[in-house]
Amino acid sequence: MLNREPMKMWGGRFEGKLSPEAEAYSFSLQHDIRLWKQELQASAAHARMMGITGMLSAHEANRIVDALLEIHAEIEEGEWLPFDEYEDIHTAVEARLYEKIGALAGKLHTGRSRNDLVATEVRLWLRERTTDLARALFGLCSQLMQLAEQHKETLMPGLTHQQHAQPVTLGHHLMAHCWAFIRDLARLTQAGVRMNLCPLGAGALSGTTFPIDRELLAAELSFAAPTPNSMDAVSDRDFIAEYLFVGALLMVHLSRLAQELILWSAPEYGYVELSDEHTTGSSIMPQKKNPDIAELIRGRSALAIGNLTSILALLKGLPLTYNRDMQDDKPLLFATMDTVTPSVRLMSDMLAQARWNTERMRAALRGDFSTATELADYLVRKGVPFREAHQVVGQIVRECLQRGIALEDLDAETLQRHHPRFEADALEAIDPERAVRARTILGGTAPESVVKQIEQAKESLAEIEHQLNELLNPN
Ligand code: ARG
Repeated sequence: MLNREPMKMWGGRFEGKLSPEAEAYSFSLQHDIRLWKQELQASAAHARMMGITGMLSAHEANRIVDALLEIHAEIEEGEWLPFDEYEDIHTAVEARLYEKIGALAGKLHTGRSRNDLVATEVRLWLRERTTDLARALFGLCSQLMQLAEQHKETLMPGLTHQQHAQPVTLGHHLMAHCWAFIRDLARLTQAGVRMNLCPLGAGALSGTTFPIDRELLAAELSFAAPTPNSMDAVSDRDFIAEYLFVGALLMVHLSRLAQELILWSAPEYGYVELSDEHTTGSSIMPQKKNPDIAELIRGRSALAIGNLTSILALLKGLPLTYNRDMQDDKPLLFATMDTVTPSVRLMSDMLAQARWNTERMRAALRGDFSTATELADYLVRKGVPFREAHQVVGQIVRECLQRGIALEDLDAETLQRHHPRFEADALEAIDPERAVRARTILGGTAPESVVKQIEQAKESLAEIEHQLNELLNPN
């Protein structure tokens, strides 16, 4: 006889039951309730397949599918919610199905296991969430490209070691961030493509003797193909680790940009003012305007990095095949996926609404020696070996520092005193506008090169969009 209380998918071989504490410790419904749509979707596909292969009569298959649709509506309308008494979402849904159609519900689990089911459902869930994240990333990239176009001629100091190095444009700088996000989008797409296989039919670990049509299941659920090895199918969590890596690296990229916005909005820089929508005041200091959202984005990267290291630690040393440890993959995955998309969207909005103080950026180049390289390059063009030119200009910088003047204050005679090849036109080399305009090399900071890379970025994005469409909207 079926044991109806408490509902479990197992129990026949047990005399006793889990202690309340062990039960609370092991139940996962509080996390995997988020897979309810995928549970219903995968179950309906399984039932339809059973109807087609003769494992169920057409009538039985239809009854199950209809009942699953009803459960869908019930959950959506809040009429029935899987509640705590159930071990996991799989158990909860099967119990509800039983209440609706009686013993027929018990036929649904033929030839399948929660092991292949959960691996399938997480993949479906991730595929769905990929759409939102990808959309947010496309939005961020187009925001960066738009700003880069606007600021392709806005000069600012380019830094290495946090020290003024050479002048660049704000547009070029923002595009540098954009390329990192384009790579994130590409990685997200590639992780999606690798993930897009259907584990159903793997059963608990070794496959099944029932006539399960794995090709049909994969097609029903819009996967590219069934997974090739039943043991790998229930052991593999690479796709979760990959998404957690994509998320962690994306958060690291956001964090680096956030850090710049935080610095740039400090009075010492004054390059940017973030909008009221993304800043907060102080409870004690009336003058304060704090870049909290940027700080939170920077901080949340810690969670994403932690989740990545957690999944790797969770999987390390697990023997094949399914082990219950793997249940704890979901809170990690959910937490990261919940964090990344709003972080990307907020970063986009923050950039869109920021007020850029281009005069402060330009002013920061005055007296900062960031065109010293130009002066050395000038000598190189006159036939002086670069090493010698570097030494000479180093001495010029030293003299300026001793005299408390800038490169801009030098005259032709002083330059000639340092090297006879300096002529009157050498002073023009010191001009940062000129230094930037001359960097027309592919990938350089000259406005025309920035325009070209924006075009190149658009092409890369279009290609990624095409691949994503094939993954997310097949047929
Ligand atoms: N809640 C489980 C998980 O998320 C589902 C699979 C359970 N399988 C099992 N044999 N207990 O991993």
